[in-house]
Amino acid sequence: MINDDRGQASAKADLFMTAAAMAEQYLRSERQGRVFPDSAAVDALSVLDSWGLEAPRPAGEVLSDLAAMGQAAAVRSTGGRYFGFVTGGTEPSALAASLLALAWDQNGALPAMSPLAAAIDAKAARWVVELLGLPTESTAVFCGGASVANLIAIVAARDVLLAHQGWSVAESGLRGSPPVSVIASTEAHSSVVKALRVAGWGASEVHLVETDELGRLKVEAIGNVGSPALIVAQMGNVNTGHCDPLAELATWADARFAPGDYWIHVDGAFGLWAAASTTQQHHAAGIEMAHSWATDAHKWLNTPYDSGIVIARNGLDLRKAMSASAAYLPGQDPVDLVDWSDELREPMHLGLQMSQAVRAIPVFAELAVLGTAGVADLIDRCCRHVADLATLLESGGVEIPVAPGLNQVLARFGSDALTDEVVRNIQSGGVCWAGSTTWQGRRAMRLSVCDASTTTEDIETTAAAILEAWRTATG
Ligand SMILES: Cc1ncc(COP(=O)(O)O)c(C=O)c1O
Repeated sequence: MINDDRGQASAKADLFMTAAAMAEQYLRSERQGRVFPDSAAVDALSVLDSWGLEAPRPAGEVLSDLAAMGQAAAVRSTGGRYFGFVTGGTEPSALAASLLALAWDQNGALPAMSPLAAAIDAKAARWVVELLGLPTESTAVFCGGASVANLIAIVAARDVLLAHQGWSVAESGLRGSPPVSVIASTEAHSSVVKALRVAGWGASEVHLVETDELGRLKVEAIGNVGSPALIVAQMGNVNTGHCDPLAELATWADARFAPGDYWIHVDGAFGLWAAASTTQQHHAAGIEMAHSWATDAHKWLNTPYDSGIVIARNGLDLRKAMSASAAYLPGQDPVDLVDWSDELREPMHLGLQMSQAVRAIPVFAELAVLGTAGVADLIDRCCRHVADLATLLESGGVEIPVAPGLNQVLARFGSDALTDEVVRNIQSGGVCWAGSTTWQGRRAMRLSVCDASTTTEDIETTAAAILEAWRTATG
């Protein structure tokens, strides 16, 4: 029996090492070949049609076919020249720690399930708060991504604002609840609109405030809004990279509303990391005046997917909004709780998921390796790359329609049609990958430098490829 167990364990370890060797081969080729697969590689994925549940196959064979698919068709978004959407690469320490986490397969829901997970989770959470310079009493909770983080924070804010009006959502639901004003900018990210919708506010109920030429909310344009008020600010506009003026916004809210009658949430999916930089700190002025923050580790911190973080000034607000109790589960009824304490750090009672991966593990490893200075360097480096890229493109005659902020840059190549054609040429060329967007009614190429492995040479190669794609488009 013992021998059988050993045999099983060693078969599992052997298969794991086989996969690790295949992953190694992929990682060694991460910077070779096309950034986005060509159509032949994508078409070859139709081999999946021939796979059927009626014909199980040996694990080694399945793995080697999977590895071949990945080798041919995975988007090299971690190889330094992928600038689409807001896509991070993978820091070596975070990637390697993810492997350990996979092998351990701990359920991070409750400390009772894994003291190991709980210890690493608590440590990584404290480091995140420290690194971002947030109020020391804040509680960070790991979740699937910034969309989820926004939702958790917005639901917690809703419940707190209504509780202050004497209304318990847990007890009475939302029907008939007192009105809450919601303020966001016209540039709020679509995930915020979605989170508000899920939390009970339709689009027509959101007071959308106009923005300036950099896409930042104009505080003087907010106008007359009643309390209680939920204010959703943004750090890091997906087009311009610029951040809402948090200090001005918080001062405005403080002068207008009584404490307890307003809540400021900051969607900082990528931009929140400006607070950890040495050169971009000014974007984060006033960050500590908010009540909650959402960010991603899988974007600019370069952990593997899926890794978001929600942070609340008072962890009890998350606990009250997200608790789920059952006789077989540890955890006090949140109604009786009055103060936050570290014993309440039970991830399943602080977020949407019950069972969950220990997302803190790669974050912990990376922060332990990089430290404060290393994270600042990662952020600053990407911002320098964006400034250099803008300069190289501009000196080649390309229009940069808005001053780049943080790690985002837009580029235009004449008409909308021509700009779209240059983007198509870049996407099919394979040297790098950039997306497109519409900014102030005109089409633009959009580049986001989020990969820690991007080098100065990558930026020069990318600028040259874009200028060449433009020449091709103009014939
Ligand atoms: C400003 C902003 N908020 C939220 C999100 C959603 O993040 P996620 O894709 O991790 O859910 C994004 C994604 O790009 C973003 O840029």
